[in-house]
Amino acid sequence: MPTERTLVLLKPDAVARRLAGPILTRFEQKGLRIAALKLIQVTPELAKRHYAEHVQKPFYPMLESFITAGPTVALVLEGKSAISVVRGMMGPTNGRDAAPGTIRGDYGTSRQMNLVHGSDGPEAAAKEIAIYFQPHEVVDATEPLAPWLS
Ligand code: PPS
Repeated sequence: MPTERTLVLLKPDAVARRLAGPILTRFEQKGLRIAALKLIQVTPELAKRHYAEHVQKPFYPMLESFITAGPTVALVLEGKSAISVVRGMMGPTNGRDAAPGTIRGDYGTSRQMNLVHGSDGPEAAAKEIAIYFQPHEVVDATEPLAPWLS
């Protein structure tokens, strides 16, 4: 199982609802390591770079106005199979379809205001991490992961 990095956003609804801390805690309790973290205001330009494959879709204007509506926490999480582990913890896009115990299943019923974003594969993770973070902002582990987190 490879150690991976993934780009996670705690979207404006998560920050506004004071759920950034509880959601971050879930990822840490799972054993994922924070490799980078910052609070940002997503601009329309940034949104278009991140969601480039959705820009032509009918829902894109709503997605852009939502993701730019307030502060977002951007982070890089690292760990064994981090990409799929985070996706599993998030649950499916629409909170109504998400099982209890997942982040979206526990906190929302919306497809748009779905609290979190996680990269959907290694290629997307590399692209998205580079969109949100400069290389020097992503911090290498200062100690080996403890065996109980592997
Ligand atoms: S698609 O078309 O199936 O590829 O879309 P999906 O993977 O389900 O969602 C991609 C991102 O677009 C957001 N989304 C929406 N936002 C606003 N309104 C509507 N109707 C809508 N549908 C999808 C969705 O939350 C996904 O965001 P991320 O950040 O990638 O989870």
